[in-house]
Amino acid sequence: MFTDNFAKASLAQLPTVLELLPNLSKCLNGPNIWIKRDDCTGLALGGNKARQLEYYLGHAIAQGADTILTTGAIQSNHVRMSVAAARKLGLDVEVLLEHRVSGRKTEYYQSGNPFLIALMGAKIHYFEDGEDEDGADNKLFELADKLRKQGKKPYVIPLSENYTPYGSLGYVDCAAELLQQCKKLSFKADAIILPTGSASTHAGMLCGIRALGFDIPVLGVCIRRERKAQAQRVLNKAHQVAQMIGFKGIIDDKDIWVDDEMLAPGYGQLNQPALEAIDLLAQTEGILLDPTYTGKAMACLIDLVKTKKYTKDQNIVFLHTGGSPALFGYPEILDDDFFQH
Ligand SMILES: Cc1ncc(COP(=O)(O)O)c(C=O)c1O
Repeated sequence: MFTDNFAKASLAQLPTVLELLPNLSKCLNGPNIWIKRDDCTGLALGGNKARQLEYYLGHAIAQGADTILTTGAIQSNHVRMSVAAARKLGLDVEVLLEHRVSGRKTEYYQSGNPFLIALMGAKIHYFEDGEDEDGADNKLFELADKLRKQGKKPYVIPLSENYTPYGSLGYVDCAAELLQQCKKLSFKADAIILPTGSASTHAGMLCGIRALGFDIPVLGVCIRRERKAQAQRVLNKAHQVAQMIGFKGIIDDKDIWVDDEMLAPGYGQLNQPALEAIDLLAQTEGILLDPTYTGKAMACLIDLVKTKKYTKDQNIVFLHTGGSPALFGYPEILDDDFFQH
């Protein structure tokens, strides 16, 4: 396999299930909608970060690290799962929580992911400027320096683009797993739809699919930044990943498919289509989406189906990347007067 040369920690429960969503497909009266259940990867309630952390933590352990440091928003799934990964491997863990989303209720700060992060006993630091990725990473490296002076061996999992994207390797593996499952279930995927943030998932999946010789479009739904900036980020990361796995084929603009129609009013802020997608999946399939990532990605999928971008004989795969613990940080989802709910 392409990723065999990289150190890896065993953290995720794999393979995740690929299954049809019969009720949703019927309700939308369009293509067959399949779901890849990466929300069920284990590691303190699951999500896409489990596959990514297998490579980060593998690298950390190979370097003799004893403390993991990482950063994310207050309701970060990545931070929650990094803390779980560190605990599973018996490591210390310090996290930086960024004030990235304004105007939230008390629950946003206390319930869901921050609750679980505190429960697992991470040392928590706060970072005021949620839009300064480089600043947050620099703060992590400062904290790491302090720990080094105390005789510890810290390992930083950074957020910004400037570092080797070990996490994407988990989604190179996922591409192979998914293609094998499609084969077994006797269908050809016509598109893969996923939320795209740091772009590690998107770039890894795209490289994996292309490296295995498939031209399936991988559509990233923007949840953090607008289309142009996100497309550039995915392309840059895909080139890094291609180099890491020794893939010599070309990945260019034509492979990068991103949609920012569901981004407004911004990161971590709900909108009406995301709210409707969360409701619909809960009530037709008992599937829990989240306000920041998968609710918006599913809203995009629903919009594409409703505007007849796919025919009834086609097969669309939705990558469920997790995030449902954040639902508890957004209790207003059930308010009668929230949007036209
Ligand atoms: C639930 C969920 N989905 C999707 C993403 C985006 O993944 P990536 O950062 O690899 O683009 C995240 C990132 O934190 C996430 O928590």
